[in-house]
Amino acid sequence: MALHEGAADDRRLTVSPFIGAADPLGSMELAPPVHRLAQGPVPADSAYQLIHDELMLDGNAKLNLATFVTTSMEAQATRLMTECLDKNMIDKDEYPQTAELERRCVAILADLWHAPDPSSSIGCSTTGSSEACMLAGLALKRRWMARNAERYAAGARPNLVMGVNVQVCWEKFCTFWEVEARTAPMEGERYHLGAEQAVSLCDEDTIGVVAILGSTFDGSYEPVAEICAALDGLQDRTGLDVPVHVDGASGGMVAPFLDPDLPWDFRLPRVSSINTSGHKYGLVYPGVGWALWRDKEALPEELVFRVNYLGGEMPTFALNFSRPGAEVIAQYYTFLRLGHDGFRAVQQASRDVALYLSGAVEALGCFRLLTRGDELPVFAFTTTGDVPFDVFDVSRRLRERGWQVPAYSFPANRTDLAVLRVVCRNGFSRDLADLLLADLTRLLPELRSQPGPLKDLGVPARTAFHH
Ligand SMILES: Cc1ncc(COP(=O)(O)O)c(C=O)c1O
Repeated sequence: MALHEGAADDRRLTVSPFIGAADPLGSMELAPPVHRLAQGPVPADSAYQLIHDELMLDGNAKLNLATFVTTSMEAQATRLMTECLDKNMIDKDEYPQTAELERRCVAILADLWHAPDPSSSIGCSTTGSSEACMLAGLALKRRWMARNAERYAAGARPNLVMGVNVQVCWEKFCTFWEVEARTAPMEGERYHLGAEQAVSLCDEDTIGVVAILGSTFDGSYEPVAEICAALDGLQDRTGLDVPVHVDGASGGMVAPFLDPDLPWDFRLPRVSSINTSGHKYGLVYPGVGWALWRDKEALPEELVFRVNYLGGEMPTFALNFSRPGAEVIAQYYTFLRLGHDGFRAVQQASRDVALYLSGAVEALGCFRLLTRGDELPVFAFTTTGDVPFDVFDVSRRLRERGWQVPAYSFPANRTDLAVLRVVCRNGFSRDLADLLLADLTRLLPELRSQPGPLKDLGVPARTAFHH
């Protein structure tokens, strides 16, 4: 939720007589305040129309190439979700079948991610990857505290090792739960965490290493197996046994289908937990995420609350109490509906579009690709040095046609680099990719005739939301 400062102006909504369903005269008198509760009610049809019309100003979700989050589902999934809008996920006693579908999803993911014994792996649904990462981080912290009780009592401060490219949820985790964030900077053409950097930042107070599959900045997979192998080496040399959490917010639902031979999951003994966003490449509307632990030892028992006041005793691990059940049901729908082959086909189609589009962008001659979309179906590109426009100009001009292609600067030590990023996801078809390409091609002569990047001419660059 965004934090909004109080806005107490006296603005009122104007209701057209024509939308005051049965009483055009009455609705002429209707002018509900914007920032205060009106004294009386507004007819349902008028309330609907007023809000519906305002929301037309929101962007068109299908043209939003910034987001990883699902923007289209089948009518049957939408129908199921509508039927379940009233179900509270926490109320497992009243909705035992919803709880059962959640359990099945956890089992499916444990199997998909090669848990050594899916019957003893443990997991839960969350509102998204952010909550899942908080829970996984907490488990790592508690395990470290249990191993280092005396040193912790004497003032040792835990740290978490990760690349500077981590999603903001990991900065939040470290701030909220008082863990030092040890981030490895980017260097040269390395835009994510490498094994060597990870190991060099670990010490006896490291609660874990976060490896990302794949990076929000450019869609690349971090080398999880290499990071694990390097940590094995560290353990051999020093005795330090540092667990790995894989942030598979996007890749956790891509790699199992498109890169089955890539070991990044519980096949690696050092991987103790994994998260994914059901609402990203899990193909479900927001918000659902998943957190899984390799086995019961990986999730300290004291973090699990046993809720018994809704009629039965139920172990839960979550930050929220009440939460919608519809998304969890929709996740089960996508698993049932697509199966392995269906998921592979859908993800492959996204990867094909990404590869096609990145190749075509490169062929335009004024862009340099950082990634091509062959890991996550996501690619990042920048301008070549010899053109009089920058990525912010391209983003701004594409926006005129409704496309949202974010432009943003990279973090340390590549703050000199700014990129555009395209997320190809289910619903972004080859046809839409061609339309984007046609718009970009049409814009180029104008961009080339600029005297220079607009930010050098005093127009502030607009960094778009990108994760
Ligand atoms: C790598 C990574 N981790 C975590 C998150 C947070 O996920 P959510 O939006 O599901 O909370 C994201 C979102 O983009 C991400 O890309």
